[in-house]
Amino acid sequence: MLLLEERYLQKNGQGASIETPDQLFRRVARHISSVENKKKDHWENCFYNLMAKMEFLPNSPTLMNAGLPKGQLSACFVLPINDSLDDIFTTLKNAALVHQSGGGTGYNFSRIRPKNDTISTSGGKSSGPIAFMKVYDAATEHVKQGGKRRGANMGILNVDHPDIAQFVIAKLDGNSLQNFNISVGITDHFMKAMINTEKWELINPRTGQSERTIEAKELWDSLIHAAWKTGDPGLIFLDTINAHNPLFRQGRIQSTNPCGEVPLFDYESCNLGSINLAKIVGLGSKPSNINWDKLKLLVQMGIRFLDNVIQCNHYLLPEVAEMALKNRKIGLGVMGWAELLIQLEIPYASKEAVQLAEKLMRFIQETSFNASCNIAKEKGCYPAWEESIHYPNLHLRNATCNSIAPTGSISIIANTSYSIEPLYALAFKRTGVLGTKTQQVLHPIVKDKLTQLGHWNNAIQDQILETGSIREVESIPDHIKKLFETSLEIPWKYHLEHQRAFQKYTDNAVSKTINLPSSTSASDISEIYRTAWEFGLKGITIYRDGSKANQVLQKCGAI
Ligand code: CDP
Repeated sequence: MLLLEERYLQKNGQGASIETPDQLFRRVARHISSVENKKKDHWENCFYNLMAKMEFLPNSPTLMNAGLPKGQLSACFVLPINDSLDDIFTTLKNAALVHQSGGGTGYNFSRIRPKNDTISTSGGKSSGPIAFMKVYDAATEHVKQGGKRRGANMGILNVDHPDIAQFVIAKLDGNSLQNFNISVGITDHFMKAMINTEKWELINPRTGQSERTIEAKELWDSLIHAAWKTGDPGLIFLDTINAHNPLFRQGRIQSTNPCGEVPLFDYESCNLGSINLAKIVGLGSKPSNINWDKLKLLVQMGIRFLDNVIQCNHYLLPEVAEMALKNRKIGLGVMGWAELLIQLEIPYASKEAVQLAEKLMRFIQETSFNASCNIAKEKGCYPAWEESIHYPNLHLRNATCNSIAPTGSISIIANTSYSIEPLYALAFKRTGVLGTKTQQVLHPIVKDKLTQLGHWNNAIQDQILETGSIREVESIPDHIKKLFETSLEIPWKYHLEHQRAFQKYTDNAVSKTINLPSSTSASDISEIYRTAWEFGLKGITIYRDGSKANQVLQKCGAI
């Protein structure tokens, strides 16, 4: 509850909390149910219980701002970047407003003419997209989200932009663009050119003409080297995203939100929420002991909650209001997947886990669509429905229903594992994002499960605290150790298999970090990025241990 206390509870002028966690959940539930025409009290109580029992939590801006004057409730935005100073600085201002309200912004900078191109008005030379990204980065540095955390940005440049070679190495110095995740907008055409070691044309967006030709493989190698060195850039697979775009008649999607789980049009926003999977286990430890009825109920209520958020949201920009109310995109996802697997005694790195991931997400998707259909019967389909792929058979309230978000904060509030990630470490030191306060944390599921299995004592606890792992504890048998393998011990193929399993039944996208040991080679990373494309993922992010100076999470044994 420390995080709730520090960042979410309302404070008075002196910084003291003026609400309890209980009152926070009541404030949010009341606001989100206020748009119901019938049975308001019933829905308020349902939403309150969902949150108070930590079975479902909405994204941070909803928890922070719902029920407050001009409460902005969405976590995810994509804003347009056009090739004019006026537009670039209008969006910069809008991005600052979004950040201030707790949201994150994604943009594709590919419409900006390349560096040293002609400027007709001044007769001078252009600065290029990377220079403008740096302006955005500097602005972000000084606008804290709701005064509580720094804003997050996703910056994309398409693989055929003339400045792409500079873009892929833009973060190599370890200083630049620290408030950006950067990703290359990849096409299938490029992947084929790279695999066949063909030439690749770079197109000037101002003229639409080819500017020069490079070796696709050389660009790839440079990109891979940078990713190996720093974790950036990631990839966004634009063709895969657009092949699954339910509103392709509105145009081609060019960007995602900062962490990649929601592909959005310019000026679209999205509200996220996540079900805590650690709360759906019945008694016993067999997969058959998942309480599917409970999960169904949580999904139904989660979808209704998020759909209501669209209605009772305060929109900062009229363009965003229009898009949000027209397409009504929401993203219901999960957290606590690793904890669920431990409860069920299924190792993350196993076929059984991947199969269960598919079964579970398929169930969540089907239930989400049914729930959205039922709300559509009651309240109407989303206004753009007739121009979507859902028309005429699938009457939906929402153009999209599911996203797997990182749950970076809400999983801490719910005291469970992040998103669909394996445990990063069994014990770790957490350094605060805004400060230097360091805490030593033992993951609660570790003690609970090992106690249940009869393998807990002070010596074991000390050993885990010291190394962050269970590997060295001799008294624990291998099959139990396997349950507690951490992120870096899990082969990358299994990380990707989990991402694929969840993506298969997620209409938006899955945010996942493929965490890798520091010994991982550049050619491994090349294989991971290529496999991600072959698997039909919508994006890929990797992180090699130790490759960023100020890593937020650090294993106890590592420092
Ligand atoms: O746990 P929480 O609801 O705070 O957020 P998350 O699941 O870690 O991230 C969901 C989305 O919130 C991200 O993809 C960003 O769009 C946004 N976000 C942000 O704007 N700033 C952050 N510091 C973290 C997340």
